[in-house]
Amino acid sequence: MLEKVNEIYGIKTVISNRKVDYLPSFLSAEETKRVRDFHATIQGYKATPLVSLDNLARRLGVSKIYLKDESHRFGLNAFKGLGATYAIAKLLSEKLNVDINSISFDYLKSPEIAEKIKDMVFVTATDGNHGRAVAWAATQLGCKSIVYMPKGSSLRRLQHIKDAGAEAYILDVNYDDAVRKSREKAEEIGGYVIQDTAWEGYEKVPNWICQGYTTMAAEALDQMRLDGTNKPTHVFLQAGVGSFAGAILGYYANIFEEECPITTIIEPQNADTIYKSALANDGEPHAVTGDLETIMAGLACGEPNVVTWEILRDFAKAYVSCPDYVAARGMRLLANPIGNDKKIVSGESGAVGLGLVSLLLEREELKALKEKLELDENSVIVCFSTEGDTDPDHYEKIIYDGKNPSPF
Ligand SMILES: Cc1ncc(COP(=O)(O)O)c(C=O)c1O
Repeated sequence: MLEKVNEIYGIKTVISNRKVDYLPSFLSAEETKRVRDFHATIQGYKATPLVSLDNLARRLGVSKIYLKDESHRFGLNAFKGLGATYAIAKLLSEKLNVDINSISFDYLKSPEIAEKIKDMVFVTATDGNHGRAVAWAATQLGCKSIVYMPKGSSLRRLQHIKDAGAEAYILDVNYDDAVRKSREKAEEIGGYVIQDTAWEGYEKVPNWICQGYTTMAAEALDQMRLDGTNKPTHVFLQAGVGSFAGAILGYYANIFEEECPITTIIEPQNADTIYKSALANDGEPHAVTGDLETIMAGLACGEPNVVTWEILRDFAKAYVSCPDYVAARGMRLLANPIGNDKKIVSGESGAVGLGLVSLLLEREELKALKEKLELDENSVIVCFSTEGDTDPDHYEKIIYDGKNPSPF
């Protein structure tokens, strides 16, 4: 059963009441238990902060609002290093015929292994964060990386990728065509595609990437428990291709089963492929084409990951398509906290979840949606700020110059 909610201030929502009787097994606690231990072997690994925004929660009338601040991940200012490192390690463990359970990142960096893998080239397409993560991992292992970015990509993000050691280019095509270019290039040079999205016949690497992301979800649960909270009631996840959202939701579905938190998937309105796919209600993923113009660069993807699409279709409660001002509002709220709540530097793709939460809880016009999502004074909400100011010039325009103001 599917329910379309009236559009409010450009915010479009579809509610699903789907019930399924399976769990995505590749994201089970059992399948992913090695992931966090592997990440812990990487120099600089540390659980990122889970910030409890108590004053904001009080003001918005809910029990808790937690924000996982991924700007602290491996010094990369975004969460993507979790996926790139785990997927590359899994690929290498297969090539070298060693058990991932028995190796560390240092082992992969050792001179003995470096000699064996030095001619490997990793190729990928990115809006910025994933490419930087692949370049960073490849460089540490002594391997080459080639990274393609779509038209309109930030020059600062391009420079970050080059600084991490990759050969990197901005192409005159959109994200999905940049992905196709990376496949062609890898084929041409005998390289390895490390792409954070899956398509028919290319599922193994993206599934490893998703498993890599579960470290973030696992850390968040541990941190909540230390804060005296047993489980979240609501999770808000932003989606580009949907690998991140599918990984977190799939992991929580395995852990909480029937009691899975009420999960909302959020996308920019010009790249709302998951929303459109949910709306079509035929079970299939539906692509969005064109320039995919949005300030949420990390979410500017038109074709969903075919594996995680099924998780999002079967386990999420709501799909929301948002104008850019929702992300800008989230960024400003996090940059200007109430009272002694901690300030968080959250970029465009990181802050949209909190932007939406604040509107849902504050605006009378969105009350019907708030009720459908069962948000009330007992709610424990978790959002993931998946990046910091990865484009610092644009970040400043939003925070200090008030770019992308709210329409009310
Ligand atoms: C900061 C940030 N958040 C969220 C996402 C969304 O991840 P996915 O494309 O897996 O949906 C991305 C993807 O690039 C990102 O860079």
